Amino acid sequence: MTARLIDGKQISSAERSTIAAETAEFSGQTGIVPQLAAVLVGDDPASQVYVRNKERACQKCGLKSTLHRLPQETTQSELQQLVKQLNDDPAVHGILVQLPLPDQLDAIPVLDAILPAKDVDGFHPENVGLMLQGRPRFLPCTPHGILRILDHERIETSGAHAVIIGRSDIVGKPMGAMLIQRGADATVTTCHSRTKDIATITAQADILIAAVGIPEFVTSDMIRPGAVVIDVGINRVNDRLVGDVHFESASGTASAITPVPGGVGPMTIAMLLRNTLTAAVQQTR
Ligand code: GUN
Repeated sequence: MTARLIDGKQISSAERSTIAAETAEFSGQTGIVPQLAAVLVGDDPASQVYVRNKERACQKCGLKSTLHRLPQETTQSELQQLVKQLNDDPAVHGILVQLPLPDQLDAIPVLDAILPAKDVDGFHPENVGLMLQGRPRFLPCTPHGILRILDHERIETSGAHAVIIGRSDIVGKPMGAMLIQRGADATVTTCHSRTKDIATITAQADILIAAVGIPEFVTSDMIRPGAVVIDVGINRVNDRLVGDVHFESASGTASAITPVPGGVGPMTIAMLLRNTLTAAVQQTR
């Protein structure tokens, strides 16, 4: 079997056109340009690329984006002071603090400090709680993007066994919660570093989602023939970007697969733009 390639770039481009049209309509009616404030602490090269891509995407869709760069040695109180300032600025509708933060900083109090109404990542505990209860204010961008991919590709989630590799707060945990929600109706198994005999579990997946952060961790022997494989990983290996899935080998077993780059990544960005527009609309009511 040769897997069908899922073109996340194309799906996200259609999504961004819709967002651009809705943004133009909103701005035309209100005179307000939705604004995302991105905070980047330190000089992690991957984070710099992600934040730049997010900024560019905003500008292309008619949203305003401002980047707040802080030095590597920023203190906890300096970072939280900036968050407070952005909370208090009525022209800022969405706030994103790029993770991971440098070692001396604790992300939890920073995310707790973001006004829930401006938390376009959906990481604040209030928004996590609302999402878990099935009445989301903002859906977290990566899992939301993955659901949109599955929907676009007409991949049935109802009754399907979705196996997620990784239990992060950003992807694995919310992904599981969203897939078992009414409407998605999947049966979910979450695997992690302590899971025994992981290949036996992943081989039972109808939908396999790899968000483990280990380059090319998933190989064909871990995949049920005909499964759909979603690769969330972005790893740089010898100046080459690879996912958490060994693409060549997996393509021979899966029925459909997302590439890296050009799969999940562009959808994450599109969902961030969607949340920023939603935030502006809600704050303007
Ligand atoms: N780091 C990796 N993914 C994300 C994300 O979706 N949001 C933020 N803020 N940081 C990240």
